[in-house]
Amino acid sequence: MANLGITKYGNPVLRKVAEPVTEINDEIKKIVNDMLDTLYASEGVGIAAPQIGVSKRIIIIDTNPTEASVKPLVIINPEIVEVSGEIKEQEGCLSIPDVRGEVKRYERVVVERLDLDGNKIRVEGTDLLARALQHEIDHINGKLFIDHLSKLKQQLLKNQLRKIEQGQ
Ligand code: NI
Repeated sequence: MANLGITKYGNPVLRKVAEPVTEINDEIKKIVNDMLDTLYASEGVGIAAPQIGVSKRIIIIDTNPTEASVKPLVIINPEIVEVSGEIKEQEGCLSIPDVRGEVKRYERVVVERLDLDGNKIRVEGTDLLARALQHEIDHINGKLFIDHLSKLKQQLLKNQLRKIEQGQ
């Protein structure tokens, strides 16, 4: 297990459509462990495999990382199957440090996914969980939260984003 550090804005892996997981083997379990270590070291509520440089459709969400009894959700090959409502709230991303912006998301989503045992299960999320699911699923589709911001806001963030891209 290792904290691999978070890939930052500008790394091309964040813009790729990630590959589905075809078999849950030791390689996938190692990726999941690395993602967990990296997530907890980064104090985020969610992480997607491209954020540790792995272009696979795996995301992990833990909306309550300080509460050990709440298990993180390991979500493999997720598909959003139901949505309802809309809500606009501030959002940020571990790959885009210090940048925040208001993003409109569905208030509730239902996601079908595989767990680490290969079982197909449904996750229903509202509020923060719904937002995290949509944010992380965007990641495995090569999309970032800044893509949802207004053109004006994107323009205002241009210099800040360029600095992240250049590793400053
Ligand atoms: Ni993110």
